[in-house]
Amino acid sequence: MHYRLALIGFGGVARALVEILRNKGNELPQKDGLELSVVAVSDLRLGMAEDPDGLDLAALVDLPNEPGALAAFSGGRAEPDNEAVIKRSTADIVVEATFTNPETGEPALSHCRWALESGKHLVTSNKGPVALAAAELTKKAEAKGLAFSYEGTVMSGTPVIRTAEQCLAGCHIAGFRGILNGTANFVLGQVETGMSFDDAIALAQSRGYAEADPTADIGGSDVLMKVLILARALFDQAVEASAVPCQGITGLSEAEVRAAKAEGHRWKLLGQGSVAPDGHVALEVAPIMLPDSDPLASIEGPTNALTLDTDLLGPVTVSGPGAGRIETGFALLADILAIHAQSQPPRYRQ
Ligand SMILES: NC(=O)c1ccc[n+]([C@@H]2O[C@H](COP(=O)([O-])OP(=O)(O)OC[C@H]3O[C@@H](n4cnc5c(N)ncnc54)[C@H](OP(=O)(O)O)[C@@H]3O)[C@@H](O)[C@H]2O)c1
Repeated sequence: MHYRLALIGFGGVARALVEILRNKGNELPQKDGLELSVVAVSDLRLGMAEDPDGLDLAALVDLPNEPGALAAFSGGRAEPDNEAVIKRSTADIVVEATFTNPETGEPALSHCRWALESGKHLVTSNKGPVALAAAELTKKAEAKGLAFSYEGTVMSGTPVIRTAEQCLAGCHIAGFRGILNGTANFVLGQVETGMSFDDAIALAQSRGYAEADPTADIGGSDVLMKVLILARALFDQAVEASAVPCQGITGLSEAEVRAAKAEGHRWKLLGQGSVAPDGHVALEVAPIMLPDSDPLASIEGPTNALTLDTDLLGPVTVSGPGAGRIETGFALLADILAIHAQSQPPRYRQ
């Protein structure tokens, strides 16, 4: 089976996906008859390139990060044209990896709508459209028998959404709580060892964990989007961001973080949710002091973890990377492979 990809946004994550495809090119095509090619790329800064026979993956990986660089491809242009690429390219799958807009989801939300309305599968690592409009997008996808997958939006390539939906199918998941922001977790760990909050944030930035503006990581709004996405994926519920109490770690003092550690406890920034038997969903983002015995207390540095409360297995905890270009590029690949698996006989299904 041959799938043609159109990439909307060609920053770190989309480039990592292409890098993985290039590096694993000899393995993937043989796997269950799968063939993948990139037939179009459109990026705000780099412009656009399109080739129904497949763009050269090595040339895409090595593309200089300069304005209009895609114009160097045959038929390429210095300006993007997302709408034309999504609606009119020969792609079967649109990969949305532009920037996250937590207020409106745009322009990514329009990209997602165009993809599904024009009959293309949609995979994305972009939290904005999923947190704000997953119900609408799922309905659009289901109406046309298309995939709408977003594994990379929570804990990057660490498989939490697919674990819940597929491996835990048959279990009732009544709740979740997780360490869903690696920057906040790294900063709290450094403060425990005696560093100031400001120095710990600067260290996180120097190691590439934190953005130049760490407000969303430290203030809780990044975790809030992930909690909304999990409420949708685990409980099938659309919750408004404004209905979720959200506190980051800025209200904690260095002294209380260190005192907790000395007494066998650890402060962690948690995103958590539960669904009551009547369907009522409660979500929260808050710093919580955990005893050392809690599986989430031992999660160090930028690692993420999510505990799912299930009826048949009790608590199930998944931990792994929560961010990173290759890790998130892998999540996009996993979503693409899942589309292929759905078209295969049962023994190949994910
Ligand atoms: N990196 C991670 O670890 C990670 C983890 C989980 C989820 N994500 C999400 O995955 C998405 C991609 O992340 P990333 O790290 O690859 O970000 P990135 O490096 O900033 O790449 C985003 C790319 O999209 C381009 N872009 C922005 N607006 C666009 C538009 N309207 N049309 C076309 N292209 C546009 C950007 O161009 P300019 O540079 O000119 O703006 C940039 O090249 C984001 O939504 C991010 O939140 C990332």
